[in-house]
Amino acid sequence: MADNGPILVTGAAGQLGAVGRTVCGLLRERGLPVRAMVRREDDRAAALRAVGAEVVVGDLLEPADVYRVVSGCRRVYFGMSVSAGYLEATVTMAVVAREVGVDAVVNMSQMTVSEMSIQNTTSSGQQRQHWLSEQALAWSGLPVVTIRPTMFLESFFQLAALSVRARGRIEVPFGPGKTSPVAAADVARVVAAVLADPGPHLGRVYELTGPRSQDMHGVAREFSDALNREVTYSDIPAEDWERGIRKWGVPEHLTRHLVAMGELHRAGRYDRLADGVERVTGRPAISVREFVSLRADEFGGRRS
Ligand SMILES: NC(=O)c1ccc[n+]([C@@H]2O[C@H](COP(=O)([O-])OP(=O)(O)OC[C@H]3O[C@@H](n4cnc5c(N)ncnc54)[C@H](OP(=O)(O)O)[C@@H]3O)[C@@H](O)[C@H]2O)c1
Repeated sequence: MADNGPILVTGAAGQLGAVGRTVCGLLRERGLPVRAMVRREDDRAAALRAVGAEVVVGDLLEPADVYRVVSGCRRVYFGMSVSAGYLEATVTMAVVAREVGVDAVVNMSQMTVSEMSIQNTTSSGQQRQHWLSEQALAWSGLPVVTIRPTMFLESFFQLAALSVRARGRIEVPFGPGKTSPVAAADVARVVAAVLADPGPHLGRVYELTGPRSQDMHGVAREFSDALNREVTYSDIPAEDWERGIRKWGVPEHLTRHLVAMGELHRAGRYDRLADGVERVTGRPAISVREFVSLRADEFGGRRS
Protein backbone atom coordinates (compact mmCIF):
# COMPACT_ATOMS: atom_id res chain seq x y z
CA MET A 1 0.00 0.00 0.00
CA ALA A 2 1.23 3.49 -0.83
CA ASP A 3 0.89 5.63 2.35
CA ASN A 4 0.94 8.86 0.38
CA GLY A 5 -0.73 7.50 -2.73
CA PRO A 6 -3.78 9.14 -4.25
CA ILE A 7 -7.37 8.40 -3.32
CA LEU A 8 -9.08 6.46 -6.11
CA VAL A 9 -12.58 7.63 -7.07
CA THR A 10 -14.40 5.30 -9.48
CA GLY A 11 -17.37 6.32 -11.64
CA ALA A 12 -15.85 9.80 -11.60
CA ALA A 13 -17.30 11.15 -14.86
CA GLY A 14 -20.87 11.16 -13.51
CA GLN A 15 -24.26 10.42 -15.03
CA LEU A 16 -27.22 10.70 -12.65
CA GLY A 17 -26.04 11.50 -9.12
CA ALA A 18 -22.42 12.12 -10.15
CA VAL A 19 -21.34 11.38 -6.57
CA GLY A 20 -17.85 10.41 -7.76
CA ARG A 21 -17.38 13.64 -9.70
CA THR A 22 -18.44 15.77 -6.71
CA VAL A 23 -16.22 13.73 -4.39
CA CYS A 24 -13.21 14.44 -6.66
CA GLY A 25 -13.85 18.19 -6.40
CA LEU A 26 -14.33 18.09 -2.61
CA LEU A 27 -11.12 16.08 -2.06
CA ARG A 28 -9.15 18.44 -4.30
CA GLU A 29 -10.54 21.41 -2.30
CA ARG A 30 -8.98 19.73 0.75
CA GLY A 31 -5.68 19.50 -1.12
CA LEU A 32 -5.77 15.69 -1.29
CA PRO A 33 -4.35 13.78 -4.29
CA VAL A 34 -7.09 12.16 -6.36
CA ARG A 35 -7.05 9.52 -9.10
CA ALA A 36 -10.34 9.74 -10.99
CA MET A 37 -11.39 6.64 -12.92
CA VAL A 38 -13.55 7.23 -16.00
CA ARG A 39 -14.71 4.97 -18.80
CA ARG A 40 -13.69 7.20 -21.65
CA GLU A 41 -11.87 10.41 -22.55
CA ASP A 42 -14.41 13.20 -22.96
CA ASP A 43 -15.26 16.69 -21.63
CA ARG A 44 -16.01 15.24 -18.22
CA ALA A 45 -12.51 13.75 -18.04
CA ALA A 46 -11.07 17.13 -19.04
CA ALA A 47 -13.10 18.84 -16.28
CA LEU A 48 -11.67 16.40 -13.72
CA ARG A 49 -8.13 17.21 -14.87
CA ALA A 50 -8.97 20.91 -14.56
CA VAL A 51 -9.62 20.48 -10.81
CA GLY A 52 -6.26 18.73 -10.44
CA ALA A 53 -7.28 15.06 -10.50
CA GLU A 54 -5.13 12.43 -12.21
CA VAL A 55 -7.52 10.88 -14.73
CA VAL A 56 -7.28 7.17 -15.60
CA VAL A 57 -9.45 5.39 -18.15
CA GLY A 58 -10.71 1.88 -17.49
CA ASP A 59 -13.61 -0.54 -17.21
CA LEU A 60 -14.66 -1.71 -13.73
CA LEU A 61 -15.59 -5.07 -15.28
CA GLU A 62 -12.03 -5.67 -16.51
CA PRO A 63 -9.82 -7.03 -13.69
CA ALA A 64 -6.58 -5.87 -15.35
CA ASP A 65 -7.97 -2.31 -15.65
CA VAL A 66 -9.05 -2.35 -12.02
CA TYR A 67 -5.62 -3.60 -10.92
CA ARG A 68 -3.92 -0.85 -12.92
CA VAL A 69 -6.05 1.94 -11.45
CA VAL A 70 -6.00 0.72 -7.83
CA SER A 71 -2.22 0.11 -7.78
CA GLY A 72 -0.50 2.85 -5.81
CA CYS A 73 -3.71 4.15 -4.21
CA ARG A 74 -4.23 4.17 -0.45
CA ARG A 75 -8.02 4.59 -0.36
CA VAL A 76 -10.92 3.82 -2.70
CA TYR A 77 -14.40 5.19 -3.29
CA PHE A 78 -16.29 2.49 -5.16
CA GLY A 79 -19.45 3.52 -7.00
CA MET A 80 -20.75 3.27 -10.54
CA SER A 81 -24.00 3.85 -12.37
CA VAL A 82 -26.91 1.46 -11.77
CA SER A 83 -26.06 -1.44 -14.08
CA ALA A 84 -26.38 -5.19 -14.52
CA GLY A 85 -22.70 -5.90 -13.79
CA TYR A 86 -22.65 -4.22 -10.38
CA LEU A 87 -21.94 -7.33 -8.30
CA GLU A 88 -19.19 -8.50 -10.65
CA ALA A 89 -17.56 -5.07 -10.52
CA THR A 90 -17.74 -4.98 -6.71
CA VAL A 91 -16.18 -8.42 -6.30
CA THR A 92 -13.49 -7.54 -8.85
CA MET A 93 -12.70 -4.40 -6.85
CA ALA A 94 -12.60 -6.42 -3.60
CA VAL A 95 -10.17 -8.97 -5.07
CA VAL A 96 -7.89 -6.23 -6.37
CA ALA A 97 -8.08 -4.08 -3.22
CA ARG A 98 -7.05 -7.12 -1.14
CA GLU A 99 -4.17 -7.84 -3.51
CA VAL A 100 -2.93 -4.24 -3.59
CA GLY A 101 -3.72 -3.49 0.08
CA VAL A 102 -5.64 -0.29 0.82
CA ASP A 103 -6.51 1.36 4.11
CA ALA A 104 -10.17 2.10 3.28
CA VAL A 105 -12.87 1.18 0.77
CA VAL A 106 -15.92 3.42 0.85
CA ASN A 107 -18.70 1.44 -0.79
CA MET A 108 -21.82 3.01 -2.30
CA SER A 109 -24.94 0.98 -1.55
CA GLN A 110 -28.64 1.70 -1.04
CA MET A 111 -30.76 2.27 2.05
CA THR A 112 -33.18 -0.51 1.13
CA VAL A 113 -30.38 -2.97 1.91
CA SER A 114 -30.90 -2.15 5.61
CA GLU A 115 -34.20 -4.04 5.45
CA MET A 116 -33.01 -6.94 3.28
CA SER A 117 -32.12 -10.46 4.36
CA ILE A 118 -32.13 -13.99 2.95
CA GLN A 119 -35.89 -14.12 3.59
CA ASN A 120 -36.72 -10.54 2.71
CA THR A 121 -35.52 -9.26 -0.62
CA THR A 122 -36.89 -6.96 -3.34
CA SER A 123 -37.61 -7.34 -7.05
CA SER A 124 -34.83 -4.87 -7.95
CA GLY A 125 -31.76 -6.62 -9.35
CA GLN A 126 -29.73 -3.55 -8.36
CA GLN A 127 -30.79 -3.80 -4.73
CA ARG A 128 -30.18 -7.55 -4.68
CA GLN A 129 -26.69 -6.94 -6.08
CA HIS A 130 -25.98 -4.26 -3.47
CA TRP A 131 -27.06 -6.69 -0.74
CA LEU A 132 -24.80 -9.42 -2.10
CA SER A 133 -21.96 -6.92 -2.67
CA GLU A 134 -22.11 -5.87 0.97
CA GLN A 135 -21.90 -9.53 2.03
CA ALA A 136 -18.89 -10.13 -0.23
CA LEU A 137 -17.10 -7.02 1.07
CA ALA A 138 -17.73 -8.17 4.64
CA TRP A 139 -16.18 -11.60 3.88
CA SER A 140 -13.23 -9.88 2.16
CA GLY A 141 -11.95 -8.55 5.48
CA LEU A 142 -11.19 -5.21 3.80
CA PRO A 143 -11.51 -2.00 5.86
CA VAL A 144 -14.92 -0.97 4.49
CA VAL A 145 -17.24 1.97 5.17
CA THR A 146 -20.75 1.45 3.78
CA ILE A 147 -22.84 4.34 2.46
CA ARG A 148 -26.57 3.60 2.16
CA PRO A 149 -28.46 6.59 0.76
CA THR A 150 -32.18 6.61 0.07
CA MET A 151 -33.42 7.83 -3.34
CA PHE A 152 -31.40 10.78 -4.67
CA LEU A 153 -33.19 14.08 -5.21
CA GLU A 154 -31.52 14.00 -8.63
CA SER A 155 -33.64 10.95 -9.46
CA PHE A 156 -36.69 13.07 -8.71
CA PHE A 157 -35.35 15.57 -11.19
CA GLN A 158 -35.08 12.91 -13.84
CA LEU A 159 -38.47 11.35 -13.03
CA ALA A 160 -40.55 14.46 -12.35
CA ALA A 161 -39.00 17.41 -14.14
CA LEU A 162 -40.84 16.87 -17.42
CA SER A 163 -44.33 16.70 -15.89
CA VAL A 164 -43.59 19.55 -13.46
CA ARG A 165 -42.49 21.70 -16.39
CA ALA A 166 -45.37 20.67 -18.66
CA ARG A 167 -48.31 20.25 -16.27
CA GLY A 168 -47.25 21.42 -12.81
CA ARG A 169 -47.61 17.84 -11.57
CA ILE A 170 -45.30 15.24 -10.05
CA GLU A 171 -46.51 12.03 -11.68
CA VAL A 172 -45.23 8.95 -9.84
CA PRO A 173 -46.95 5.75 -8.60
CA PHE A 174 -45.99 6.21 -4.94
CA GLY A 175 -49.56 6.06 -3.53
CA PRO A 176 -49.66 7.38 0.04
CA GLY A 177 -46.06 6.26 0.62
CA LYS A 178 -43.73 8.62 2.39
CA THR A 179 -40.24 9.41 1.15
CA SER A 180 -37.17 11.36 2.28
CA PRO A 181 -34.93 11.88 -0.78
CA VAL A 182 -31.36 13.01 -0.25
CA ALA A 183 -29.24 15.24 -2.49
CA ALA A 184 -26.37 13.43 -4.21
CA ALA A 185 -24.23 16.44 -3.24
CA ASP A 186 -24.91 15.64 0.44
CA VAL A 187 -24.02 12.00 -0.20
CA ALA A 188 -20.77 13.18 -1.81
CA ARG A 189 -19.98 15.37 1.22
CA VAL A 190 -20.29 12.31 3.45
CA VAL A 191 -18.10 10.19 1.15
CA ALA A 192 -15.43 12.92 0.93
CA ALA A 193 -15.35 13.40 4.71
CA VAL A 194 -14.90 9.65 5.25
CA LEU A 195 -12.18 9.37 2.58
CA ALA A 196 -10.28 12.31 4.05
CA ASP A 197 -10.07 10.62 7.47
CA PRO A 198 -11.40 7.05 7.32
CA GLY A 199 -10.06 5.81 10.67
CA PRO A 200 -13.08 6.63 12.88
CA HIS A 201 -15.53 5.35 10.26
CA LEU A 202 -14.10 1.92 9.40
CA GLY A 203 -16.69 -0.85 9.70
CA ARG A 204 -19.58 1.61 9.97
CA VAL A 205 -22.75 1.79 7.90
CA TYR A 206 -24.14 5.26 7.20
CA GLU A 207 -27.80 5.57 6.25
CA LEU A 208 -28.47 8.87 4.50
CA THR A 209 -31.82 10.59 3.96
CA GLY A 210 -33.09 14.12 3.51
CA PRO A 211 -34.36 16.10 6.54
CA ARG A 212 -37.99 14.91 6.47
CA SER A 213 -40.08 11.91 5.50
CA GLN A 214 -43.39 12.96 3.99
CA ASP A 215 -45.97 11.80 1.47
CA MET A 216 -45.89 13.08 -2.08
CA HIS A 217 -48.42 15.82 -1.34
CA GLY A 218 -45.88 17.21 1.13
CA VAL A 219 -43.12 16.90 -1.48
CA ALA A 220 -45.34 18.73 -4.01
CA ARG A 221 -45.90 21.54 -1.48
CA GLU A 222 -42.13 21.98 -1.19
CA PHE A 223 -41.94 22.18 -5.00
CA SER A 224 -44.72 24.82 -4.94
CA ASP A 225 -42.90 26.89 -2.30
CA ALA A 226 -39.62 26.71 -4.21
CA LEU A 227 -41.16 27.58 -7.61
CA ASN A 228 -43.80 30.03 -6.30
CA ARG A 229 -46.50 28.27 -8.34
CA GLU A 230 -48.80 25.36 -7.73
CA VAL A 231 -47.29 21.88 -8.14
CA THR A 232 -49.47 18.89 -7.24
CA TYR A 233 -48.95 15.18 -6.83
CA SER A 234 -50.63 12.81 -9.25
CA ASP A 235 -50.58 9.15 -8.17
CA ILE A 236 -50.34 7.37 -11.51
CA PRO A 237 -50.91 3.63 -12.13
CA ALA A 238 -47.77 1.50 -11.97
CA GLU A 239 -48.34 0.38 -15.59
CA ASP A 240 -48.24 4.00 -16.84
CA TRP A 241 -45.05 4.57 -14.91
CA GLU A 242 -43.42 1.49 -16.46
CA ARG A 243 -44.65 2.45 -19.94
CA GLY A 244 -43.17 5.94 -19.53
CA ILE A 245 -39.81 4.55 -18.41
CA ARG A 246 -39.70 2.13 -21.32
CA LYS A 247 -40.20 5.07 -23.70
CA TRP A 248 -36.87 6.50 -22.50
CA GLY A 249 -35.19 3.35 -23.86
CA VAL A 250 -33.06 2.76 -20.75
CA PRO A 251 -31.54 -0.72 -20.14
CA GLU A 252 -33.87 -3.41 -18.75
CA HIS A 253 -31.88 -3.57 -15.47
CA LEU A 254 -32.57 0.13 -14.78
CA THR A 255 -36.21 -0.17 -15.88
CA ARG A 256 -36.78 -3.06 -13.43
CA HIS A 257 -35.07 -1.08 -10.68
CA LEU A 258 -37.26 2.00 -11.22
CA VAL A 259 -40.41 -0.13 -11.33
CA ALA A 260 -39.37 -1.79 -8.04
CA MET A 261 -38.70 1.64 -6.51
CA GLY A 262 -42.28 2.63 -7.34
CA GLU A 263 -43.65 -0.53 -5.69
CA LEU A 264 -41.49 -0.09 -2.61
CA HIS A 265 -42.53 3.54 -2.22
CA ARG A 266 -46.17 2.53 -2.44
CA ALA A 267 -45.58 -0.09 0.25
CA GLY A 268 -44.09 2.53 2.58
CA ARG A 269 -40.57 1.12 2.37
CA TYR A 270 -38.99 4.54 1.69
CA ASP A 271 -40.51 6.03 4.84
CA ARG A 272 -37.17 6.32 6.60
CA LEU A 273 -35.29 9.04 8.41
CA ALA A 274 -31.57 8.90 9.18
CA ASP A 275 -29.10 11.53 10.33
CA GLY A 276 -25.97 10.19 8.60
CA VAL A 277 -25.37 13.41 6.61
CA GLU A 278 -25.30 15.63 9.69
CA ARG A 279 -23.47 13.09 11.84
CA VAL A 280 -20.56 12.77 9.40
CA THR A 281 -20.37 16.29 7.95
CA GLY A 282 -21.74 18.44 10.79
CA ARG A 283 -24.27 20.00 8.39
CA PRO A 284 -27.87 18.88 7.90
CA ALA A 285 -29.03 17.44 4.59
CA ILE A 286 -30.75 19.89 2.22
CA SER A 287 -34.52 19.80 1.81
CA VAL A 288 -36.63 19.25 -1.31
CA ARG A 289 -37.43 22.95 -1.29
CA GLU A 290 -33.77 24.00 -1.19
CA PHE A 291 -32.89 21.51 -3.95
CA VAL A 292 -35.70 22.65 -6.24
CA SER A 293 -34.86 26.33 -5.59
CA LEU A 294 -31.28 25.70 -6.67
CA ARG A 295 -32.45 24.06 -9.92
CA ALA A 296 -35.63 26.07 -10.52
CA ASP A 297 -34.88 26.60 -14.22
CA GLU A 298 -34.80 22.87 -14.85
CA PHE A 299 -38.29 22.57 -13.29
CA GLY A 300 -39.69 25.29 -15.55
CA GLY A 301 -38.60 28.32 -13.55
CA ARG A 302 -39.76 30.20 -10.47
CA ARG A 303 -42.75 32.50 -10.85
CA SER A 304 -41.92 36.02 -9.64
N1 LIG B 1 -29.98 7.32 -7.99
C1 LIG B 1 -30.47 7.07 -6.79
O1 LIG B 1 -31.58 7.50 -6.44
C2 LIG B 1 -29.63 6.27 -5.82
C3 LIG B 1 -30.06 6.15 -4.50
C4 LIG B 1 -29.29 5.40 -3.59
C5 LIG B 1 -28.12 4.80 -4.03
N2 LIG B 1 -27.73 4.93 -5.33
C6 LIG B 1 -26.52 4.24 -5.78
O2 LIG B 1 -25.57 5.20 -6.22
C7 LIG B 1 -24.76 4.61 -7.24
C8 LIG B 1 -24.79 5.48 -8.45
O3 LIG B 1 -24.11 6.68 -8.12
P1 LIG B 1 -24.12 7.92 -9.06
O4 LIG B 1 -25.54 8.35 -9.32
O5 LIG B 1 -23.17 8.92 -8.50
O6 LIG B 1 -23.54 7.28 -10.41
P2 LIG B 1 -23.68 7.91 -11.86
O7 LIG B 1 -23.34 9.36 -11.78
O8 LIG B 1 -24.98 7.51 -12.45
O9 LIG B 1 -22.56 7.08 -12.66
C9 LIG B 1 -21.19 7.11 -12.31
C10 LIG B 1 -20.33 6.62 -13.43
O10 LIG B 1 -20.19 5.19 -13.46
C11 LIG B 1 -19.56 4.93 -14.68
N3 LIG B 1 -19.56 3.51 -15.03
C12 LIG B 1 -20.62 2.72 -15.28
N4 LIG B 1 -20.21 1.47 -15.60
C13 LIG B 1 -18.86 1.48 -15.56
C14 LIG B 1 -17.86 0.53 -15.83
N5 LIG B 1 -18.17 -0.74 -16.18
N6 LIG B 1 -16.57 0.89 -15.70
C15 LIG B 1 -16.23 2.15 -15.34
N7 LIG B 1 -17.14 3.10 -15.07
C16 LIG B 1 -18.44 2.77 -15.19
C17 LIG B 1 -20.34 5.77 -15.69
O11 LIG B 1 -19.51 6.12 -16.76
P3 LIG B 1 -20.12 6.73 -18.15
O12 LIG B 1 -20.89 7.97 -17.77
O13 LIG B 1 -18.94 7.02 -18.98
O14 LIG B 1 -21.02 5.66 -18.70
C18 LIG B 1 -20.79 6.97 -14.84
O15 LIG B 1 -20.22 8.18 -15.22
C19 LIG B 1 -25.32 3.21 -7.47
O16 LIG B 1 -24.60 2.33 -6.65
C20 LIG B 1 -26.74 3.34 -6.97
O17 LIG B 1 -27.30 2.10 -6.60
C21 LIG B 1 -28.45 5.66 -6.22
